[in-house]
Amino acid sequence: MRKKIVAGNWKMNKNIQQGKELCNSILNLLETSNKEVILAVPFTHFTVLAELVKGSNLKLAAQNCHHELSGAYTGEISASMFASLGVDYVILGHSERRAYNNEDNDLLRKKIDTALSQNLKVIYCCGETLDERNSGVHFDLVAKQIIEGVFHLNSEEMKNIVIAYEPVWAIGTGETATSVQVQEIHVHIRSVIARKYGEYVADGISILYGGSCKPSNAHELFSQTDVDGGLIGGASLNAEDFISIIKA
Ligand code: 13P
Repeated sequence: MRKKIVAGNWKMNKNIQQGKELCNSILNLLETSNKEVILAVPFTHFTVLAELVKGSNLKLAAQNCHHELSGAYTGEISASMFASLGVDYVILGHSERRAYNNEDNDLLRKKIDTALSQNLKVIYCCGETLDERNSGVHFDLVAKQIIEGVFHLNSEEMKNIVIAYEPVWAIGTGETATSVQVQEIHVHIRSVIARKYGEYVADGISILYGGSCKPSNAHELFSQTDVDGGLIGGASLNAEDFISIIKA
């Protein structure tokens, strides 16, 4: 059985007071279930939020980490620092970081290795732009992101990888990919993984969808066989919306 996961990516939103409030509201509404619920919050919030979520089934994620564990990298934060704060996951390869911070698959591979070395699980993002989809290269592009990003790992390490398919054209736009589009690319991602690691490993990997996922479309998207949950941006900033997505 694959793990069902709903992760909220707060991006650069909420100061510490607002973050505490949102986290408390989510904790109050959260029912115990077999789903993994994750909050990817700003770096500055971990110490405080780690205390709040202690003993609950809410997990914390970083939104990025550096590819080295320590050194002269002013302003950067390393995977070992996150691990020491009780953070469980790190999101790597988000399209915003690929676009605004020039992060490519080669760099992401190093970041993934560093994160795994600190026992962090990785939510590795992939997804195409609208131009790429319109020109029909999206299947190849997503396969390339997966192959270049994670295919150096062994089967055991792959157990600590979650894939998030996030079409760039659906992020923050209100335009969601249809459940048919999402299912077909999730099947593709799983088959790319199966070709390298075999069916058993591929069947065990959770593949999340992200991009304008909200209470009104979450059920339809999550009911697809190969959609194992979601990576939620805007709608995760509201406790009621986030909880209703978790319930979906
Ligand atoms: P939105 O849900 O706001 O479209 O963002 C998705 C996303 O980028 C999550 O990482």
